Amino acid sequence: MTKIDILYNKNIISKELSEHYTALATNIQFLGKDIKKIVVSSVQENEGKSTVSINLAKSLADLGLKVLIIDGDTRNSVMLARFKARGKVEGLTSYLSGSVGIENVLYETDVNNLTILPSGQIPPNPTSLLQSRNFEIMLSAFEKYYDYIIIDAPPVGAVIDAAIIAKQCDGSILVVQSDAIKRKFVKKAKDQLEQSGSKFLGVILNKVDMEVSSYGGYGIYGNYGNYGKK
Ligand SMILES: Nc1ncnc2c1ncn2[C@@H]1O[C@H](COP(=O)(O)OP(=O)(O)O)[C@@H](O)[C@H]1O
Ligand SMILES: [Mg+2]
Repeated sequence: MTKIDILYNKNIISKELSEHYTALATNIQFLGKDIKKIVVSSVQENEGKSTVSINLAKSLADLGLKVLIIDGDTRNSVMLARFKARGKVEGLTSYLSGSVGIENVLYETDVNNLTILPSGQIPPNPTSLLQSRNFEIMLSAFEKYYDYIIIDAPPVGAVIDAAIIAKQCDGSILVVQSDAIKRKFVKKAKDQLEQSGSKFLGVILNKVDMEVSSYGGYGIYGNYGNYGKK
């Protein structure tokens, strides 16, 4: 694997939020060992897929699990900007198109147990690359090595890619921006992810305004986050 040259930006989330992510990571562990490959999507852009994927992956890694995060949003990759990569970085599209070997697209990060597979250059044909047999082969190889593989996917509403990725995963998570998406679109996206054959694990309601929210003391990611606090 390539040496450490990607740094996790420690300023992504507050300490309080990181507690919610730890609760989320713990809940995912409770789902059992069969749920290893997890795709994270949303109805549309900007709801928080990448943020949730990165922080969920980090929280799982902090629990001592070996985690790989894959940037599957090849059309709109933000992962490297968030991880502050140094130098030229190859990624998923370079591997899927056959231009580099798998050993050249995995990068250690400065978070113990967390490896990243960046998206690579924007290809002319992202969807067909994901449909290639290489993608499936790659995931089955990783599955033997990592405890969790978190895949940041494009939005379900925009392109078919998320469903294609979900087809190769054990479970899917939908990030939903609070007060931004109509219920029927969330339902449609959930149905689409379920039709891929992976288990729908649930919705993460993101960007909840805690000041005005009727979710009260429940926290953003379930009702464990604020337990024991004022
Ligand atoms: N819980 C949150 N609270 C505040 N801002 C957030 C939250 N989650 C994500 N963001 C911000 O929203 C923007 C979009 O998030 P991002 O994860 O890139 O979305 P996506 O990957 O779904 O397009 C980013 O600027 C990110 O920092
Ligand atoms: Mg994103």
